[in-house]
Amino acid sequence: MKNLIAANWKMHFDVKEAEDTAKRMASTIKFNGIDIVVCANFTHLDRLNGIFNAGSIKLGAQNMYFEERGAFTGEVSPLMLKAVGCEYVIIGHSERRHIFNEDDELINKKVKSAIEHNLIPIFCIGETYDEREKKQAFSVIERQIESGLRDVDIENVIVAYEPVWAIGTGVAADMATIDKMHNFVRPFVDDVPILYGGSVKPNNAEELAHIENLNGFLVGGASLKAEDFKEIIEKFTKIKGEKYA
Ligand code: PGA
Repeated sequence: MKNLIAANWKMHFDVKEAEDTAKRMASTIKFNGIDIVVCANFTHLDRLNGIFNAGSIKLGAQNMYFEERGAFTGEVSPLMLKAVGCEYVIIGHSERRHIFNEDDELINKKVKSAIEHNLIPIFCIGETYDEREKKQAFSVIERQIESGLRDVDIENVIVAYEPVWAIGTGVAADMATIDKMHNFVRPFVDDVPILYGGSVKPNNAEELAHIENLNGFLVGGASLKAEDFKEIIEKFTKIKGEKYA
């Protein structure tokens, strides 16, 4: 099965910081056997395409609208992402779901549209702290998968399990919880890659890579430093990847 590690830069970098970090990544991250993706801000994608297009790092966006064009002020379409070299797009990140009120129905439209336009959706799911406390983690995940991937040809989807309570906290979910959740997700999605996200760092990447149904990471904070991101990739590939070149 394909393994993949994706960076989610969120809304952190100005264009110069993005270019500098991208250049450092492009010149230091050499690999084989796993896909590496950087999901950057819309305004930086064109520049980053120029930096990444000769190498093996792939470009992704953090969101998109499902229509191709029209009166949708402030939105960005799949055609626009394709035109600047994107191959991936994060859909349904917890910050989109919770800060921008994206619901399962909208997320489903976005996933379908991404696939129609040959973009690979990195489809995010994950329960909040409250939902976990109320013992709803499994039912929330099930609902998110069943609605978000309704009528979707899942062959070209990447799933990212990101428990909301572990994102940006510095403390990843524990191994047993991730193992349980990934095992729960697996039968819904056949053999598509299941990434884990939520405080993945250089110091926990190797341990996390041992989880059986875990095929990579979606990395936020630690992907802002090229060296940390590289180390995460190295730690993962040591356990799951082909030889790290
Ligand atoms: P984090 O973010 O690695 O900073 O926890 C992960 C994500 O939100 O994708």
